[in-house]
Amino acid sequence: METLIISGNDDNGIRIAANIIREGGLVAFPTETVYGLGASALLSGAAKKIYAAKGRPSDNPLIVHLSTPEDAEKFAYVGDTYFKLAEKFMPGPLTVILQKKDIIPFDVTGGLDTVGLRVPSNPVANKLIRYAGVPIAAPSANLSGKPSTTRASHVINDLYGRIDAIIDAGECIIGLESTIVSVEGDNSLKLLRPGGITLEQLKECGFRVSLDKAVTQKLDDSERPAAPGMKYRHYAPRASVTLFDGDYEIVKRKLYELRDVDGAAILCYYEDTELAGLKNSIVIGSRIDKQNTAHRLFALLRDIDCDSSVKDIYAALPEKDGIGLAIFNRLIKAAGYRVIKV
Ligand code: TXA
Ligand code: MG
Repeated sequence: METLIISGNDDNGIRIAANIIREGGLVAFPTETVYGLGASALLSGAAKKIYAAKGRPSDNPLIVHLSTPEDAEKFAYVGDTYFKLAEKFMPGPLTVILQKKDIIPFDVTGGLDTVGLRVPSNPVANKLIRYAGVPIAAPSANLSGKPSTTRASHVINDLYGRIDAIIDAGECIIGLESTIVSVEGDNSLKLLRPGGITLEQLKECGFRVSLDKAVTQKLDDSERPAAPGMKYRHYAPRASVTLFDGDYEIVKRKLYELRDVDGAAILCYYEDTELAGLKNSIVIGSRIDKQNTAHRLFALLRDIDCDSSVKDIYAALPEKDGIGLAIFNRLIKAAGYRVIKV
């Protein structure tokens, strides 16, 4: 299949992309979190095409993207808690799980009677949804199991020739996927996936928030995660990932000991001066400025994938405050939960 590459500045190109969506085709587009692989959320066949292009299990539900928070009423049963969330955090990196209405086909929701709704703040995404005139179902625009894509070049690597079009609008600002919450009752939420909106921000706005176990821990085979996608070995680079947990000085010493090990790459922060200069270390960002680390993480895991000499990646287990919880969650999943206490 010939894949059309469209610039995010090309208004007419975005109209062409919107037409493709309306007619049941697939378009990768930028959002503020990661690139999405979009199809009409109202056509059941379109969702199946997404699963095929990504090589994704079809019990994994898709997020439905809207251009305004008010549109949610057309597709799901919304209440006060949704509107409070919308007022504070939409448009933005938040997905809210609600009871779906019949208009959303079951293959978009992986057979669930709930649907995840999100209003991206990226202007190109907003335009595409408005021009399409239909809600857009979109998972992250990567091959299933690979790190999410935060640049059009990543999308081209994974999906060129498999989809109808790719809209290129440079790097995604946040770099990690949206925060997912389900509404459990009045003002009461469950955090299913941490992301651009932090647990602290939700609590500061007066919401009671419980943390789904799958965010920080591996589930037993018998346990079903609240967000089905959380059970897959996601965000995984080709090389193995191992995380060290313990006093930070001891962790840094353990990482330093790996400086001459064949095939080993050490992930560290700018501030780790003794590690940052080693020949096999890779700086992931700032330990203090966690937004910066979040922004770079997936692109970095992809870059490492291109270096065939790297067989094993080692890093400190991240701290869980603020957007750190999202970095923690993505890294333990990339590591397949391989955490060594030191
Ligand atoms: O930032 C994002 O959320 C990006 C951009 C493109 O919007 N999308 C994204 O989609 O990350 P995806 O498909 O890679 O991840 C969606 C996650 C999965 O873990 C899925 O299980 C969960 O959302 N999810 C979607 N609908 C759900 C539902 N009805 N109930 C529970 N979890 C749901
Ligand atoms: Mg994904």
